[in-house]
Amino acid sequence: MKYVYIKTWGCQMNEYDSSMIVNLLEKDNEYIITENIEQANIFILNTCSIREKAQEKVFHQLGRWKKLKNRNPDIIIAVGGCVATQEGKEIFKRANYVDIVFGTQTLHKLPNMLLTAKKNRKRAINITFPKLEKFNYVLKPKKILYSSAISIMEGCNKYCSFCVVPYTRGNEISRPCDDVLFDISNLAETGTREIILLGQNVNAYQGVTFNGGICYFSELIRLVAEIDGIERIRFITSNPLEFSDDIIEVYRDTPKLVSFLHLPVQSGSNKILHLMKRSYTIEDYESIILKLIDARPNIQISSDFIVGFPGESQEDFKQTIQFIKKINFDMSFSFIYSARPGTPASEMEDNLNLIEKKERLHLLQNLINTQTMMWSRKMFGTIQSILVEGYSKNKNLELYGKTENNRTVVFSGTSKMIGNFVNVKITKIHTHSLEGVLV
Ligand code: SAH
Ligand code: F3S
Repeated sequence: MKYVYIKTWGCQMNEYDSSMIVNLLEKDNEYIITENIEQANIFILNTCSIREKAQEKVFHQLGRWKKLKNRNPDIIIAVGGCVATQEGKEIFKRANYVDIVFGTQTLHKLPNMLLTAKKNRKRAINITFPKLEKFNYVLKPKKILYSSAISIMEGCNKYCSFCVVPYTRGNEISRPCDDVLFDISNLAETGTREIILLGQNVNAYQGVTFNGGICYFSELIRLVAEIDGIERIRFITSNPLEFSDDIIEVYRDTPKLVSFLHLPVQSGSNKILHLMKRSYTIEDYESIILKLIDARPNIQISSDFIVGFPGESQEDFKQTIQFIKKINFDMSFSFIYSARPGTPASEMEDNLNLIEKKERLHLLQNLINTQTMMWSRKMFGTIQSILVEGYSKNKNLELYGKTENNRTVVFSGTSKMIGNFVNVKITKIHTHSLEGVLV
């Protein structure tokens, strides 16, 4: 009873949570993580509820695991993450073969819950919100990651009218500053060179310091930049709200912070932004970008967009398209609006049919893809600093790594380069990756 198969859906926070689960379960060598479903006898699904499709996928997946359990009743099935937090006991009702339901804030309870399920064959559920408790269980990963993510805060207080996150991850709460720095130092010692600061609204970070003060996000970035071994800093996601001038100043004086920023705008129409309860205007957003360009002339911006929000007229959509051109966004994520139960937007009248929504999405994505390609073409012939992460899967014996602006580059090199920065001249541009030669 010890082979564990884990499937993870959703955002980087979920990926991060799953990596904590792996570390926890592997700690005493009691469990072995496997990618082989035939071998596994414990199945864990870390779920996402951001859009309806993501939520429906959960029950399809559980149905597949049910078949395995029919053959082997000893199998244990655990469901965690955002769907588990939102649905709670309802999961047992809809899928009565599930043994464990755990929440986004209670993953550290999983080892105990597994024991209960194994020994007593009793169902276990815990979807409470014990503040930051799970971070007491952060362990050094067994595998070296040259680029590592670390959660600096949890939850969200913004309550955008379309979004479930505040209900599934709880209120914003920041991890103490020293805890974050300690974990990053540990990662740096094991070989991490690039750190990704994670949170739903990282720029709202307010971590208590050892002397009872408060460390704000801008200060945290500067402190992380001082840690030996950390050469590159990214963060995701920040919000245009609270993107204060002190953060823009960090772009001026901290070269380790990358010239690439994911700053979701969602829409280019002030009317829609207001209905979304985003609490900023496109003028506010543009003003942040202009200040950023002043601090970092080569900065590239990516965003998230929602199309077909209730009340989005043809004119509103046109404004989004114009705004995408104006800001010249690189690589964005775009989604058709999905009504989420319990959110204020789900009560608004949806005035568009699916065909119109799909058409808008298609138009928007075509434009973004053209702009992404344009940014990539600009890189042709330039020399880029790459953090080499390993051997490329597609091309045997070739290495791959990421540029500062998050593009994957494949090139020939030696194994000694893995985990280090090298300079590569870009020689070929593909839609989703680049090729280069060492210089
Ligand atoms: N904290 C981040 C967003 C987290 S959710 C921020 O403030 O931007 C990630 C993305 O999913 C959002 O940016 C949004 O574009 C999309 N999203 C969230 N709820 C959605 C919904 N109900 N329908 C469609 N897309 C949604
Ligand atoms: Fe969601 Fe808005 Fe927070 S998109 S995560 S409620 S900032």
